[in-house]
This record gives sequence, C-alpha cells and structure tokens, in this order.
Amino acid sequence: MSFTVAIDGPAAAGKGTIARAIAERFGFHHLDTGLLYRVVGSKLLEAGPLSDIEARAPVIAGRIVEADLSDKRLRDEEVSAVASVVAAIPAVRGALIRFQRRFAAREGGVVLDGRDIGTVVCPDAEVKLYVTAREDIRAERRFEETRNHPAAPGRQVVLEAIRARDSLDSGRSAAPLRRAKDAVLLDTS
Ligand code: DC
Repeated sequence: MSFTVAIDGPAAAGKGTIARAIAERFGFHHLDTGLLYRVVGSKLLEAGPLSDIEARAPVIAGRIVEADLSDKRLRDEEVSAVASVVAAIPAVRGALIRFQRRFAAREGGVVLDGRDIGTVVCPDAEVKLYVTAREDIRAERRFEETRNHPAAPGRQVVLEAIRARDSLDSGRSAAPLRRAKDAVLLDTS
C-alpha cells in the first residue's frame, strides 16, 4: 500500500520540521525535494563558471541518485541562490518529477515536502498541507539558525534573500508555489 503526504510552502515556514515529525511518527519515508534542486545547483557550481545553465542543468537533474542528497554543502547560501534559478527551468523540473514520483511510489507511506508537491508532483496525495508563516518571522528563524556561523549574514540580508527566493518561487511560470485547493492551511507564525 502507498500513502502520500504532500507538504508545500515557502522557505523557513516549518515544512521540514513537520515532514520529519510525520515521517518519524508513522514510519514513513521522507523526501525533502528542495535538496534535489540544491544538488543540481551545487553540481553546476562545482563544475566551474556558471554558463550554459539551461542546457547543462537538465542533464545533471536526470542523473541524480539518492546518495547525492546527503552532501553537507547543499545548505550553503550560494547553493540556495543557484537552486532557485535552476528550479525555474522546465526541463529540470521534468527530470526531477520522475525522481520524486518514483520515490512517492514506495511501499509503506511517504512524506514529500517542497513547493509543488500537492499541485504537480503528487496531485492525488491522501493528505496535503500548505505550511506558511509571515515573511519577517521566517527571516528571523533563518537568521537565528545561522547567527553563530563565522560569516553569518545580518538580519536585513537574510530578509532580502528570503524575499528574493519567495519572488522567484511564486513568480516563475513553471510550477509556481501555490496552495493546492484541497490543502489544509497551517500558519506557523
Ligand atoms: O526548500 P529549499 O529551500 O531547499 O528549496 C531550494 C529551491 O528549490 C527553492 O528555490 C525552491 C525550489 N523548489 C522547487 O521549486 N520545488 C520543490 N518541490 C522544492 C524546492
């Protein structure tokens, strides 16, 4: 039997925390789908100067394997920035949908969190949540997470980065961030 929980929402809304708690409670497999876009961004950066992204990113996306998702550098800010650029390329999304649907077909229950899970990747999910929070609160959470790092950005920089990513994620034409009509809204502000 398969059972799918789809969780969407903007950055730092609490999707990952909720997804991990559900996975733990019910023994479900969990996929943080943002990591897939981050792997594409990170491999592009590793390969040198960012050129010809439209052609190279879909090839990288088509070759991702699960082991790529545990790379520690995927959370770096420069990877975040490139991830939101590659996420707007339809051929990248197409390649990653295949990965995500294979994952979702696993036996025993799955939780996927991202931006388009309830709308595009798993429109028939048994449970859909749309998790959001006020922009200033999400920025404050990100700021608190990184403030002890040596090169931590200031509050205003973190807020601007959240705004820029929200605008790319919601404004792109390929699978923009939207609440599915049948998703339960959770405001974690
Ligand atoms: O959730 P995150 O910050 O790790 O996501 C990284 C980028 O990938 C972000 O710009 C949103 C994008 N993304 C997406 O377009 N669709 C998803 N299902 C998950 C993430």
